[in-house]
Amino acid sequence: MATRENWGTKIGFIIAATGSAVGLGNLWKFPYITWHNNGGAFVIIYLISVVLIGWPIMMAEIMIGRKTQESPVPALEILGGKKWSIVGWLGVLTGFVILGYYTVIAGWTITSFISCIKWSFSGYVSPSDDAFGKFIGNGPLQLLLSFLFMTATALIIWKGVKNGIEKSTRILMPVLFAILIYLVVMVLFLPGRTETFKFLFNPNFAELPWEGVLEAIGHAFFTLSLGMGAMITYGSYMNKQESISRSASMVVFLDTFVAICACIIMYTIIFSAPGVKESISGSTVGMLFITLPHLLYTYIPFGATIAPIFYILVAFAALSSTISLLEVIVALLIDKLNMPRHKATFLGAFAAYFVSILSALSLGAVPFLSNWSVFGPGKEGILSTLDHLAANWMLPIGGFFITIFVGWRLDKNITESELRLTNPDGTFKLTYKLFRFFIRFTAPLAILAVILAVIFGKDFS
Ligand code: PHE
Repeated sequence: MATRENWGTKIGFIIAATGSAVGLGNLWKFPYITWHNNGGAFVIIYLISVVLIGWPIMMAEIMIGRKTQESPVPALEILGGKKWSIVGWLGVLTGFVILGYYTVIAGWTITSFISCIKWSFSGYVSPSDDAFGKFIGNGPLQLLLSFLFMTATALIIWKGVKNGIEKSTRILMPVLFAILIYLVVMVLFLPGRTETFKFLFNPNFAELPWEGVLEAIGHAFFTLSLGMGAMITYGSYMNKQESISRSASMVVFLDTFVAICACIIMYTIIFSAPGVKESISGSTVGMLFITLPHLLYTYIPFGATIAPIFYILVAFAALSSTISLLEVIVALLIDKLNMPRHKATFLGAFAAYFVSILSALSLGAVPFLSNWSVFGPGKEGILSTLDHLAANWMLPIGGFFITIFVGWRLDKNITESELRLTNPDGTFKLTYKLFRFFIRFTAPLAILAVILAVIFGKDFS
């Protein structure tokens, strides 16, 4: 077998993995669920989940990949036998499910960007109330947008790990961070900043609904790209000189930083516009794609500059996430079937686009797909169903088995030696102890709580 392609630079893994983690989860979902759970206390619970659950699972996944230098299915098979490779297969399936609806929502950033450019040059015209509904119900347009997004993703994957994923994320991520910081600085001049900081950082636990705790855990999986093998795959391209614990900590930190910045940007804009706070629409979609552009153009100084830049930010973030989703599928075809990369990319993207077609037409264009419901009211349509399935079921279940595998099944010497490789100093002992405790006890118990809550009817999507 040819030697495995590795990241070309020392920070290759961190940049690509941060690209995977930072996405619509940070910019679209997190601000909404934090709003919905009344801020402060939820943010604290979320931060705790990220450290106690996200961080150890991130390390566990990277470790499995780096140790075997294989993608999830063969990696788990090598370390745990055929039975455990099922967890890898579940991950690949999850990749199809998420990619199949993520590309559709990501596609909306393209039209938001185009609309903003138009508005910035020729003046803002407030869209009619049903404009967004009409837009998502336009089947051919939705198909085209998701096709464009899938194609951009495939073109990058086609070029390989170093020349595709690493090269593109090395451009996308710094630009994304620059735009993000620019936006944070801009909004800090707005009057709503005081209320924003109070909302985000002044916890009042009496206001936190108890399901919020479980929602925070569920979201930690989605936002950190855990539970489906993306980090196993990216870890398999990591060479033995990198430190797993340091890389994982960095990715977790950067992802959280972006999520908090996204809230600061959105809330400050919302709090600065008179009377908007009360009327924020109850839907996740609403805040990012309807409320925000309206506020930017109507109330915010320099809004016409900020708006198009903001949607580029969202598009870049989404693209670096779809790249990692497709790579999980492509790496499997390469590793298992010895397929050349270009063929694997074409097949993988083609198959995933088939799922996108169903999602894209399930927003009103085709009644049968739009009304199709497995999870009951509020979850009608293929797109919502897939989102619900992935976030509530597939990622937590995948993550749970990873904790059991690494915490209880995998030889302790393997985990210890993988983690020790680059951390021979005194800090290693403490890191390892913490990791071991979290991965064996804290993380699986918390995930179990999520799964039970889902079984008894709570929705985290
Ligand atoms: N983490 C990405 C986001 O926050 C979504 C994602 C989930 C990407 C799972 C890869 C794997 O948007």
